[in-house]
Amino acid sequence: MPALLVALGAPAALISCATFQHAIVAPPHEIPGAEFVGSAACEECHADVGAKFKNATHSRLQAKGEKAKNIGCESCHGPGSKHVEAGGGRGTIVNPRRSAEVCFACHLDKRGEFNLPYTHPVMSGKVTCNDCHDPHKGNAVPAGGTQMATEFDTCGKCHVAQRGPFAFEHEAVREGCSTCHAVHGSVNEKLLKSRNANLCFQCHFQQQTVPGQILIGGRDHSGFLSRGTCWSAGCHEAIHGSQIGSSMRF
Ligand code: HEC
Ligand code: HEC
Ligand code: HEC
Ligand code: HEC
Ligand code: HEC
Ligand code: HEC
Ligand code: HEC
Repeated sequence: MPALLVALGAPAALISCATFQHAIVAPPHEIPGAEFVGSAACEECHADVGAKFKNATHSRLQAKGEKAKNIGCESCHGPGSKHVEAGGGRGTIVNPRRSAEVCFACHLDKRGEFNLPYTHPVMSGKVTCNDCHDPHKGNAVPAGGTQMATEFDTCGKCHVAQRGPFAFEHEAVREGCSTCHAVHGSVNEKLLKSRNANLCFQCHFQQQTVPGQILIGGRDHSGFLSRGTCWSAGCHEAIHGSQIGSSMRF
């Protein structure tokens, strides 16, 4: 069976036999006896997926020429000859929806993130990578740049309470959920990026002028900060937005 070449780090340019020093991984859960047939064969029946795949992050993995047979659709779905011979159908091709192992084969670091103390329940199969990442279309990351609205929608599908609408919005949420949450996994509860006020100081940092005072939003917080986190102790408990007041207490 031909090896699948994958070069993480500087991907597209390195997919060739001449540059062999990077990790070489084959997708797991293969269909026994199947061989690579190339993406063009898939597109004969899955023209819809093939068409939108052209601008997908992972289509950049495809190399030109003979070696392109090994990558593309089959980099995630495994070798497809048995599936094609059978005229399609289930059980003859890998469907990564059922296991993150396909993704971990190349994204080695992600396995670690999903083994941190607090994670999205991907290992138990309750949530899958493709709940948040579209493997076939556009940018695989639902965040950053013009994609922020996309992250809002992606997370809001399941977390309706945090999505709003709120009478008093917290502008931070518009910036994207991942400003405060390490969405794969974290050492902090609730997948937070930081367990203390530093989470908020990312944006609410203020030049201090009076010794002994800690001004945040124009108010002295020196007495408050010892009571707990900014979002506990009855302070800003409605951190995603409030129906009651702009200070997001409730
Ligand atoms: C001869 C037509 C044909 C070709 C060629 C073909 N498929 Fe399929 N494929 C099908 C049909 C039919 C189904 C079943 C659809 C259904 O049941 O909803 C299917 C289903 C699938 C599924 C879902 C399987 C599951 O268990 O959920 C995947 C993934 C898939 N194909 C990928 C591929 C890939 C990758 C290639 C190229 C290597 C390919 N197909 C080539 C016809 C084809
Ligand atoms: C980055 C990995 C990856 C690549 C590359 C990839 N797929 Fe998929 N594919 C998936 C995942 C994950 C699913 C499950 C999606 C879901 O259930 O939401 C899937 C599902 C499918 C299905 C089942 C029907 C469906 O939409 O749920 C078909 C058919 C399919 N892929 C065809 C293709 C074809 C054809 C290509 C190449 C043009 C391709 N895939 C490239 C990851 C990939
Ligand atoms: C064959 C190896 C391979 C497999 C399998 C694979 N990926 Fe990737 N993936 C890559 C490479 C290489 C890149 C970098 C592509 C680039 O930046 O052009 C990438 C990029 C990404 C990105 C975007 C990263 C960024 O910084 O923009 C996401 C998200 C992603 N993959 C998720 C997945 C998911 C989810 C799966 C499983 C359904 C998967 N990948 C399967 C190799 C793979
Ligand atoms: C709950 C939604 C969610 C799930 C589930 C999820 N991701 Fe992500 N992922 C994101 C978001 C949002 C980003 C961008 C923000 C960030 O980097 O923190 C991202 C970023 C990435 C990136 C690019 C940046 C980086 O961290 O390297 C890769 C690659 C990636 N995810 C792969 C995966 C894989 C593989 C899985 C499944 C094992 C997975 N993700 C599951 C939401 C998710
Ligand atoms: C497919 C549904 C789904 C999507 C999409 C999703 N999540 Fe989740 N999320 C879950 C589930 C399920 C849990 C685990 C809840 C539990 O264990 O009680 C969870 C847990 C969390 C938690 C921890 C909650 C706690 O009480 O510890 C946070 C924070 C979170 N998700 C944020 C996000 C963000 C941000 C995104 C978008 C990048 C996102 N989620 C996308 C389903 C989803
Ligand atoms: C300004 C930072 C910030 C942003 C942005 C943010 N969160 Fe949170 N989130 C928090 C904090 C802080 C907590 C912990 C609150 C607590 O423990 O009561 C939390 C808790 C959660 C929880 C767990 C709720 C519970 O009751 O246990 C979920 C789910 C969640 N956030 C999802 C999201 C989603 C989805 C988005 C984007 C729409 C988002 N968050 C944006 C700071 C943020
Ligand atoms: C991504 C940047 C960002 C982060 C992170 C952030 N905020 Fe905000 N927050 C804003 C912006 C922008 C506003 C609206 C302008 C303003 O009032 O400063 C705002 C407004 C507020 C307000 C309303 C002020 C008022 O009375 O109108 C409160 C309270 C608040 N944030 C608390 C927090 C807390 C607590 C955290 C940490 C859990 C936090 N913020 C994290 C950007 C952020």
